Amino acid sequence: MSIATPSEVTFDAFDPGMRADPYPAYRRVRDAAALLPYQFGDVPVTLVTRYEECAAVLTGSEWGHGYSAGISPFRDATAAIPGSFVRMDPPQHGRYRKLVSKAFTPRTIGDLTPLAGRVVDDLVSAALRRGGLDILADLAVPLAVAMIPVRLLGADPGLGADFRQWQLAIARGSDPDWLLGAAEVAARTAAAGACMTYFGELVARKRAEPTADLLSELIAAGVDGAGLTAPEIIGLSLLLLVAGMETSINLIGNGMLALLRNPDQWDLLRRRPELIAPALDEMLRYDAPTQFTIRVALADTELGGKQFRRGDGVVILTGSAGRDDRVFAEADTFDVTRYAGNQPARKHLGFSLGIHFCVGAPLARLEAETAIQALLERAPRLELATETVEYQPSLIHRGIVSLPVSL
Ligand code: HEM
Repeated sequence: MSIATPSEVTFDAFDPGMRADPYPAYRRVRDAAALLPYQFGDVPVTLVTRYEECAAVLTGSEWGHGYSAGISPFRDATAAIPGSFVRMDPPQHGRYRKLVSKAFTPRTIGDLTPLAGRVVDDLVSAALRRGGLDILADLAVPLAVAMIPVRLLGADPGLGADFRQWQLAIARGSDPDWLLGAAEVAARTAAAGACMTYFGELVARKRAEPTADLLSELIAAGVDGAGLTAPEIIGLSLLLLVAGMETSINLIGNGMLALLRNPDQWDLLRRRPELIAPALDEMLRYDAPTQFTIRVALADTELGGKQFRRGDGVVILTGSAGRDDRVFAEADTFDVTRYAGNQPARKHLGFSLGIHFCVGAPLARLEAETAIQALLERAPRLELATETVEYQPSLIHRGIVSLPVSL
């Protein structure tokens, strides 16, 4: 798995030892080369390490996923799910995306804002009464459950622990199969099965009795005049559950960890709460919840002086691009003002770029802004209860297991 770069830097992009802090290794490999040959399981691919080349692939129409054309070298479990447009190319991609986008318009997000406020308020009040808080288990997770499966998909609020367990197993299972143990593959299969059974029953219920949520809208809507099939609606629910929960939980976890490890930035945000929106962008650049993604050349093309043939695969290290000092000044410094003012920094790749730019970004921002603002206001003297941070095993998704703080 590890490779020798042109300047003899050895690098293993997926070494579990890098989980705690992958950034020094990203720097070494970025400085060695923008593009590196890499053995991705049994698939030879190219790793893309620097910002400019990552952004060029994400925005270039000659790059995509290639599953519908039958040219992808990747065997990705996500691509097999009906309706899972994150791994689709135009024109299919656009049809599904258009339907789902309705849930994330400024108006819909405006309607969700009071709910997010109430949920966070209750969770922070309970923590203050108890005198202790785990930012993941007591705040980020229940908030994501309330907003995504329960509010967006209209699922049963009593199943919060199941949703978390299913999405964690499926999120770990989105790592390439050759990185997973047999138990993890079995856990993914079981979780996906349980999830599909649950959403299958829910779709039948909503078909009989529609409610005010995206799931009922998807049932009522059609793709190009034709209705979505039940497997497509179930697949879309699964995609939204996993793409939405794991990432928005990890934005709050990784972001709060950065703030608490940089108390000057926490104090600055307390004094200038209007910096919260740019601070979220800085969190997405500095310690992104999604660390890499994949693409395939849809036609013969050139990138960074290298020729690619149709069907060649690349792994785009977006987590590395965020720390590229060719683009970001003092890239290893966490600075909540970087995206503020008249000359904000270059767009980070935390939500990707191009046609697959995260459709749920407005909801992710709403959740993180509401949670972090409540802590700034109501628990201003927050401190880390421990210096030891344990990371989830996932490599695509970067997130911590728990973040206990003293209030
Ligand atoms: C901080 C939180 C989030 C992060 C960091 C994040 C990150 C991303 C990234 C990097 C992609 C693009 C992947 C690629 O280009 O290959 C993406 C796409 C997507 N995200 Fe998010 N996401 C977040 C929250 C959400 C939420 C809350 C939802 C929905 C509830 C969501 C739903 C989706 C969907 C459906 C796609 C596929 C879009 C497409 O292919 O057109 N995400 N997200």
